[in-house]
Amino acid sequence: RGKRAFIAGVADDQGFGWAIAKALSAAGAEILVGTWVPALNIFESSLRRGKFDESRRLPNGGLLEIAKVYPLDAVFDTPDDVPEDIKNNKRYAGSEAWTVKECAEAVKADFGTIDILVHSLANGPEVTKPLLETSRNGYLAAVSASTYSYISLLKYFAPIMNPGGSSLSLTYVASEQIIPGYGGGMSSAKAALESDTRVLAFEVGRKYGIRVNTISAGPLRSRAAKAIGFIDDMINYSCANAPLQKELDADDVGNAAAFLASPLASSVTGTLLYVDNGLHAMGLAV
Ligand code: NAI
Repeated sequence: RGKRAFIAGVADDQGFGWAIAKALSAAGAEILVGTWVPALNIFESSLRRGKFDESRRLPNGGLLEIAKVYPLDAVFDTPDDVPEDIKNNKRYAGSEAWTVKECAEAVKADFGTIDILVHSLANGPEVTKPLLETSRNGYLAAVSASTYSYISLLKYFAPIMNPGGSSLSLTYVASEQIIPGYGGGMSSAKAALESDTRVLAFEVGRKYGIRVNTISAGPLRSRAAKAIGFIDDMINYSCANAPLQKELDADDVGNAAAFLASPLASSVTGTLLYVDNGLHAMGLAV
């Protein structure tokens, strides 16, 4: 039987989630995605109109097929958590069952089980502000959207994951080294995500036999990264200073994700894997 993957955080063909979907699809997995509710309409219509057809091409000649796109807002766990203004917001009113719990229930009703869970989402409303100027609400929003969202996804999806399953998130080196400009509590959110990777590996490993890992990725010109504002500088810095002086391809992260999700990594859990051309290892730029 082929494996089935649910990838949370795909809303265009520019980010890591899309590249992971392609790599898992090329390896034979069936692909389901969770798309942020406000981005759902444009993503689905772009898919339908063929806007992504070129980037749907797989190395083996096939095309990425997405079996189903689910609306998701990973900031809300259950319907009781949704405030009135969001409920009545016209961008949300057209979709239903997009809290994490309902999304997992919908996947269960449609497909029964999954084997692979990917968290490729982050949001920090004050990301452009230095930590010292970040508000309490901005900080908590960054951790809620970028870190707690992963705990919530695992909480509700692990019970529908087959034993031997694998779960993966994306992190960034700003968690452990100073990256001025990666603000708003996003560096804190990534540090928490990395720590949670270890604790969750223990908890879901013991309870469900599922592995939990995270990929610390180098800079990529995704939609989220462009919103931070210095992505071109980060890419140039990496090309100038990393051991491998080339631009990171999203597919490099996709392929590493496919490895971690596969039986080739069946004893790998609780780890952080750098896929960053080696930049994290440099102590002095030369
Ligand atoms: P992206 O823009 O392709 O992906 C972020 C996704 O999160 C978007 O699809 C957005 O709609 C979704 N999202 C935001 N809030 C959400 C919510 N409340 N519920 C559901 N979905 C929500 O950008 P990218 O860069 O591929 O991001 C994927 C992951 O990679 C993130 O965790 C990011 O922090 C991480 N990463 C990115 C790096 C980069 O340079 N682009 C470097 C290292 C890590």
